[in-house]
Amino acid sequence: MGRVAYVNGRFVPHAEAYVHIEDRGYQFADAIYEVWAVFDGKLADAEGHFVRLERSLSELSMPMPMSRAALTLVLKEALRRNRVREALIYLQVSRGVAPRDHAFPKTPVRQAVVITVSPVDRAASEARAAKGVGVVTTPENRWGRCDIKTVGLLPNALAKQKAREAGAAEAWFVDELGFVTEGASSNAWIVDREGRLRTRDTNANILRGITRKTLLQVIANEGLTVDERPFTPADALEAKEAFITGAGTLVLPVVSVDGKPVNGGKPGPVATRLRSLYIERAKATAI
Ligand SMILES: Cc1ncc(COP(=O)(O)O)c(C=O)c1O
Repeated sequence: MGRVAYVNGRFVPHAEAYVHIEDRGYQFADAIYEVWAVFDGKLADAEGHFVRLERSLSELSMPMPMSRAALTLVLKEALRRNRVREALIYLQVSRGVAPRDHAFPKTPVRQAVVITVSPVDRAASEARAAKGVGVVTTPENRWGRCDIKTVGLLPNALAKQKAREAGAAEAWFVDELGFVTEGASSNAWIVDREGRLRTRDTNANILRGITRKTLLQVIANEGLTVDERPFTPADALEAKEAFITGAGTLVLPVVSVDGKPVNGGKPGPVATRLRSLYIERAKATAI
């Protein structure tokens, strides 16, 4: 059996899954999304992603398309129908289909809800983490509400393409003061020369990563210190280690920035240990 997608209340073959041409997500990026890592068929950091989903929707004056309980059942059913245990599951909710007009439809329309499942090869992810990845830097050019997880991702897509063309895995946005904000699809971290973990604070214009949030708890349990203070690409190059976090990457060591090595071009012990602790915890708490 092939891939199956969920579209507006129905499970359909992935190749036949369509939304309307006047979907506001398609025309205005008037839509939000969430992504959960799935371990052994269960949703990792489920609560955190649901809380952020509700917040993203509410920031755009949209309700939840169904209750959390109902959504959990649909997400689980999508996983079951796709017959995968290790995956990423993507949920998108748009304001719905309406004649093209920038302002919201006067009478609310039915939201468009889409779910897709992508299998993950855990062995390949571990091999990638064992080698580490490169990042490139790029000027921050996104809108002022990066805390909302909207599908308006063109700057992120362009940044990611720049990374790919440079043979890197991720792009770090750098703000006008020269500080790294976050990655195109991940949060950015370093272990500075004093051994402190550094990552951008969530008052900055970044997405409040759920993996970041859980990792902060893991770090606290380890008795390590975190300084939610900005760092520059130069700080990253001088750092002991660097890494990124996200539902897709989990905790992934960064071994170069703009082609220059971090930690001699090798994953460091802190990032490597945090990766395994994060995965352990995510598996233990997945639902
Ligand atoms: C811009 C951006 N920052 C950070 C993240 C990491 O967030 P999370 O850990 O919730 O996946 C993502 C994930 O897609 C992202 O798109």
